[in-house]
Amino acid sequence: MMSDNDTLSRKPSVLLVYYTYTQQALKVAEAMAEQFRKQDCSVTLAKIEFTDKRWLERFSRFPLKHPWSEVLGMFIPQMRGATGEIVIPEEAKRDDYDLVCIGSPTWFFRPSIPMRSYLVSQEAGPVLDGKPFAIYVVARRYWSINMKGVRKLAKKRGGEYVDNIHFVYAGRQIRSFLALIGYFTHGENREKYAGIKIPPTNLQPGYEEQARAFASKLADGLQVLAAPAGDPPVPAAKV
Ligand SMILES: Cc1cc2nc3c(=O)[nH]c(=O)nc-3n(C[C@H](O)[C@H](O)[C@H](O)COP(=O)(O)O)c2cc1C
Repeated sequence: MMSDNDTLSRKPSVLLVYYTYTQQALKVAEAMAEQFRKQDCSVTLAKIEFTDKRWLERFSRFPLKHPWSEVLGMFIPQMRGATGEIVIPEEAKRDDYDLVCIGSPTWFFRPSIPMRSYLVSQEAGPVLDGKPFAIYVVARRYWSINMKGVRKLAKKRGGEYVDNIHFVYAGRQIRSFLALIGYFTHGENREKYAGIKIPPTNLQPGYEEQARAFASKLADGLQVLAAPAGDPPVPAAKV
């Protein structure tokens, strides 16, 4: 049987659980994972699959076939807080992580249907119960309602909120929106949409450093778990 001291001398373990359609949440997860590993944490990435028949077709291909209607078509389900069918990988069902990081893309201000479906699922209960969790939001522009939504849902499952970070795209309201629609249409960044000059969409340069700095701070908070057995706990700020 493991003693308390044995428990204290193992590597801290981190779960990065996310949903992604255009891979931005994955890119942040990868940058964070790299930093966690550098700081001697064991890291697991787990992607939630969105398999609900109502929306499977549109989100199983990229670029979108009918970007305007397929994006706007998510408005009502998002507003009513819909949940749907998802596949949860085994890694996102385990109850033995020391920290859970939740990667949440914004869909109409809120957490996307697949991420909300995970957070309310039976499987997410043991993962979060009594566990510290952090949130990263990826969004064209609107991150805070999404972040608060994830925080509320994860706290409801017994999670202990630690921190959050957000990543938003370049450009102001109209141009960043047109840039995103252009990306959903063509599958790549273009200079113009309907004759209007647009900025590149997706994560901005520098996101990796921000993601690593965020992970580094979280890893510092976990270092107490990695202290040699018998050592007194080291306050995170002094590690
Ligand atoms: C259906 C849908 C609705 C969206 N609604 C918003 C929104 O209300 N506000 C916003 O800032 N971004 C919105 N976006 C942009 C997403 O936040 C962005 O595409 C996402 O963060 C990319 O993450 P991913 O690549 O991991 O899927 C929306 C995207 C989709 C597909």
